[in-house]
Amino acid sequence: MSFTVAIDGPAAAGKGTISKGVSAHFGFAHLDTGLLYRAVGRRTLDGMEPVAAAQALAAEELGQGDLRTAEIAQAASKVAVIPKVRSALVDFQRSFATRPGGAVLDGRDIGTVICPEAEVKLFVTASAEVRAERRYLELSANGSDTTRAQVLQDVRERDARDAERSTAPMKPAEDAVLLDTSNLSIEAALAEAIAIVEDAKRKAF
Ligand code: CDP
Repeated sequence: MSFTVAIDGPAAAGKGTISKGVSAHFGFAHLDTGLLYRAVGRRTLDGMEPVAAAQALAAEELGQGDLRTAEIAQAASKVAVIPKVRSALVDFQRSFATRPGGAVLDGRDIGTVICPEAEVKLFVTASAEVRAERRYLELSANGSDTTRAQVLQDVRERDARDAERSTAPMKPAEDAVLLDTSNLSIEAALAEAIAIVEDAKRKAF
């Protein structure tokens, strides 16, 4: 039987950590759907046409090389506005979501477009400043020599592009639970998410 947890929200809100924690706690599979768009974005930086890149994407590529750079994040959000890029990635995400044993998917449009029937929908947010600081620390730890101001500008630009596009814009589903992590430790945010999933599981089974 399938059980889907959809976790959406803007850049660096804590979706990744919460998704990994929820999937580890319940033994669910996890798909970071941002990696799909990042992998397509990386191919376009190598000169490939975006729709062809999305149609040819293979799951193995998601684990190859470092997709979590600032340059690839911007390229990802540019290809993500193209409807044919998005539609090429739908089947893979939906079949992942309904695999037996439960699945967590995190992204921008999981609760609204990919899995509108998900048993749990969370929309994780935090202020742009808090998110930029988290992303700055992450990128610096990975050896990038970026600045706080640059990261804040990148985050704001990407949020605007993601929220304003006409196909599958980033927004909470009407029945999503909002989780603002601005003033929460990651442990506290994860504990809240686990409690919400626990509750939904009790109702579903
Ligand atoms: O980790 P972070 O939140 O910074 O970004 P990500 O989840 O890896 O996503 C990178 C980009 O892919 C986003 O800025 C979106 O433009 C796009 N994306 C999307 O459009 N839909 C998704 N379901 C996931 C990501």
